[in-house]
Amino acid sequence: MAKAKTTAYFCQSCGYESSKWMGQCPACREWNTFVEEPVAPSKNAGKLQKRTANEPVKLSSIETNTEDRIHTGIHELDRVLGGGIVAGSLILVGGDPGIGKSTLLLQVCQNLSTQNRKVLYISGEESLRQIKIRAERIGSFTNDLLLLCETNLEVIEGAINRMKPEIVIIDSIQTMYREDVSSAPGSVSQVRESTSTFMQIAKGMNISIFLVGHVTKEGVVAGPRVLEHMVDTVLYFEGDRHAAYRILRGVKNRFGSTNEIGVFEMREKGLAEVANPSEFMLNGKPEGASGSVVACSMEGTRPILIEIQALVCHSNFGIPRRTAAGTDFNRVNLLMAVLEKRVGLQLSACDAYVNLAGGIKMNEPAVDLGIVMAIVSSFKNRPIDDKTIVFGEVGLSGEVRAVNMAEQRVLEAKKLGFETVILPKVSLDSLPDIKGIVLKGVKTVRDAIGLIG
Ligand code: TYD
Ligand code: MG
Repeated sequence: MAKAKTTAYFCQSCGYESSKWMGQCPACREWNTFVEEPVAPSKNAGKLQKRTANEPVKLSSIETNTEDRIHTGIHELDRVLGGGIVAGSLILVGGDPGIGKSTLLLQVCQNLSTQNRKVLYISGEESLRQIKIRAERIGSFTNDLLLLCETNLEVIEGAINRMKPEIVIIDSIQTMYREDVSSAPGSVSQVRESTSTFMQIAKGMNISIFLVGHVTKEGVVAGPRVLEHMVDTVLYFEGDRHAAYRILRGVKNRFGSTNEIGVFEMREKGLAEVANPSEFMLNGKPEGASGSVVACSMEGTRPILIEIQALVCHSNFGIPRRTAAGTDFNRVNLLMAVLEKRVGLQLSACDAYVNLAGGIKMNEPAVDLGIVMAIVSSFKNRPIDDKTIVFGEVGLSGEVRAVNMAEQRVLEAKKLGFETVILPKVSLDSLPDIKGIVLKGVKTVRDAIGLIG
């Protein structure tokens, strides 16, 4: 009989398994990601089959009720989750170290335990004392919150079986390990096996589980992308380290819309919700300055106004310098090429710096027109009226294309006291009559520039 293999090579990016080392992963095309990890025959090999051997049931006989959602008491989080935590769901919360994942989840525990729900917070990273110190910063807790510092999955499974909590927090998935998987915690096989264990617990016992996941410098949850496929919901916590606000973005959600964002501010006493992000983002906008314009981006179902700043100046070098912060660098280059070719602006000898104020990241095409206007305003040194917002997608021929949800964007601008909106002509034609705000439809970039003189 052939000797059973004891090791295999795993792609650290997507979890692809191979019997030999390879330079490039055939599945995700990443280079140099294969690491040798031991594979031990799983003791649970037959177990999974037994658990899933249920009888088929009729769709109509399955009962659902929306009350199943558990409200966390943090509206911004509930919004990103699609209305609250769905019982029995597995939620991955990813983000850079120090961004506030543990703080947010401890605040969730605080709120849920005051609703008399049984919550178990399992930490593999901090000691009980450290958690207590953090909890004291955040505020008062009821006495019912259960804490456990443990990384061994068998012990954790035992504790969950005994305590039967409604909600479990695992901080973090990379510290958890199963004894029957012989590779180190944090490796692909460990993370994958641990996640699948938690999935079985979540589905089998109808417990909602939050998994904290660390992010690599490329911005994905460390280790396998398989993790994202396994869980029901993936939330990313992002934000500029130097800015106070944090954005929680839903990247995948089986129970709600994706790309929904929640905005928080890190304060002395934990995370506070920002109920009106547009107002927050526009705070400190300079008045009458050239190269500054307000644009509107839809994040999920919510319109958010942001200030786009551009600085265009003559380049002292042969190759002009260009940077883009908060938006796609290539997109900025493309828009400058459109301006050069279709409007005739001599931008090729200019340095250009484009920045979304506040360090927020937005990639919706509707901000194109805002970027274009900011660049032109800086190039011509002509300020754009402070009470004007712009939105629209720009095409390669210099045409301004329609964007969706134009009405919500206009209403948001009106709510915040703006007086004029420059928008695609096509979108304007489909809008109902909105009073109290001037709408200017434009067909091309040239038209839009004509409006600022
Ligand atoms: P943390 O939740 O530990 O981050 P993560 O779990 O994502 O690694 O957040 C830690 C940061 O938040 C740290 O830099 C201190 C700061 N912080 C506050 O500013 N106020 C607070 O009340 C708390 C608890 C943390
Ligand atoms: Mg933490």
